[in-house]
Amino acid sequence: MTDRSGRIPSHPQIPPQVPQTSPRRTMLMSPAMVVIGGLLAFFTVVFSVVVLPIETYTPPPSDNWLPISDEAHAGRQVFLANGCVYCHSGFSRPQDVFEGLYYLYPRASEPGDFHGTAQSPNVLGTARTGPDLSHEGGQHPDTWHVAHYANPRNTTPVSIMPSFSYLSQDDRDALIAYNQSRGGKDGMLRQAAVRMGNQLMRLNMNMDVTADAALADLLDELRASGSYNADGMPSDRSPSGLPWKAVWMINSFGRGYWLMPDPLDVTQQNLIRGRAIFLSRCSGCHGVEGDGAGTAARSFMIPPFDFTQEGLPGMPMTSSGMFYHRILTAGPGTAMENFGTRLSVEDIWRVVLFLRTIPNGGLTEPLPTVDMYEPWTPPPPLQAYVESHPIGAALTDGGDRSDPFMNAARWVAPGMATGDEIMIGGAIPMTLDRLADLIRAEYMNLVDAAYADAEARGDDLPDLDTLHSTERLVFHAP
Ligand code: HEC
Ligand code: HEC
Repeated sequence: MTDRSGRIPSHPQIPPQVPQTSPRRTMLMSPAMVVIGGLLAFFTVVFSVVVLPIETYTPPPSDNWLPISDEAHAGRQVFLANGCVYCHSGFSRPQDVFEGLYYLYPRASEPGDFHGTAQSPNVLGTARTGPDLSHEGGQHPDTWHVAHYANPRNTTPVSIMPSFSYLSQDDRDALIAYNQSRGGKDGMLRQAAVRMGNQLMRLNMNMDVTADAALADLLDELRASGSYNADGMPSDRSPSGLPWKAVWMINSFGRGYWLMPDPLDVTQQNLIRGRAIFLSRCSGCHGVEGDGAGTAARSFMIPPFDFTQEGLPGMPMTSSGMFYHRILTAGPGTAMENFGTRLSVEDIWRVVLFLRTIPNGGLTEPLPTVDMYEPWTPPPPLQAYVESHPIGAALTDGGDRSDPFMNAARWVAPGMATGDEIMIGGAIPMTLDRLADLIRAEYMNLVDAAYADAEARGDDLPDLDTLHSTERLVFHAP
């Protein structure tokens, strides 16, 4: 609207006949009005969005909820203090979840997942620069986290996460305990399976294992019955002629992969692409020369595989299929990464082709060439073992697929079928049932330890039976 001279007036035109005291005049914006009105609007929003929900809404614990230990609780403070939430949300939205398919977000967050003062308020980041960590528990063993905080490029050469090497050892360990506690019951089951897989692999390699209650009980039981004698010589060969150690190793690969060849042709193009993937994704652990001496390796108890070692083409657990399976899904309880969600199937097969050129200069020469490729031939004892353990048997043996502990056991030893018995390290008889029991015992011990801490802190807790209930527990593999 313009005045008579055609200019836009700076004030609303109030006709002169409107009295001076009319509300039409006093409702004009004044500085006092702006300040008071602005504050009123601000506090109304704060009251309804912040104060009201906190005062009136206390969600009961969800089915998946577990209390966290004191160490994890301390780790949460380190997490908040170091701004991890700027890049890592702790909130899986329904649209992030492909039920059971995508490893980091196996389920959408529920209000009850953050029940209790130790886990509330939830650390809701807005940016997703890094992955959602609400299901981080058991995705990697503790030692992986140690290497990752020292420098994320150790474990993930292409990572943009800053280094947290300045954290004190206590803060770092607390942070790791916090990450491992995330994901409630499902996360705790993953954690129990990863730990058990790690302990058994170390026993198989004759490494020391720190006393772990679930495993210590089994070892005592075996010693009492005379089936395990740590001081004597374990029988070192299985009936097929394959050393027991190798038998346990190959059973950490699905049977279908044992003899599977690489479907791609050995072309230089494939090898060059494989090498680029190796350098950008694998070299932090496996080393720029492929000898397993990457910068991350010094943190790990089970070292990264050495691709330069003698006799690789004749070893029982180095078929292309086994390499592929390891890269696709990682190993049970080791620091090896699973690349199934990050590399295409073809790229994984390409890097598998490339790995076989490493002993002949694939990494040290300017370019890998086709004549550097060393094919793999199954050693006769492996063939004998496969004949007595037919490929299809593990898939069709009708075992219980609804028991989460059995599913976890099948992840630790995907090659085993119901009824198989393997002597771990030549000394510890292992069946799928026994493995499932071990994982269950480990899980319950972890739950009880967190419960005891939370009870001592005076947290608001449901009874222990509710926490022990495994009704909706699902095993989501790392
Ligand atoms: C600048 C953003 C940024 C910050 C800050 C950051 N991160 Fe990360 N983080 C990332 C990215 C990107 C990745 C994925 C690549 C990788 O694994 O390093 C990642 C990966 C991770 C993973 C591995 C997830 C998985 O299982 O693959 C963990 C655990 C993690 N971060 C924890 C932390 C913690 C704890 C802090 C704080 C001390 C932190 N991050 C700070 C960006 C960040
Ligand atoms: C965070 C460290 C880490 C990264 C990154 C990593 N690995 Fe591994 N890898 C390991 C460790 C530790 C082992 C030994 C334990 C095992 O077999 O799971 C291993 C084992 C393997 C094996 C198993 C060999 C066998 O038959 O027993 C293959 C194959 C392999 N890695 C390939 C790769 C490739 C290819 C990449 C990159 C795309 C990669 N790894 C990235 C740590 C890593």
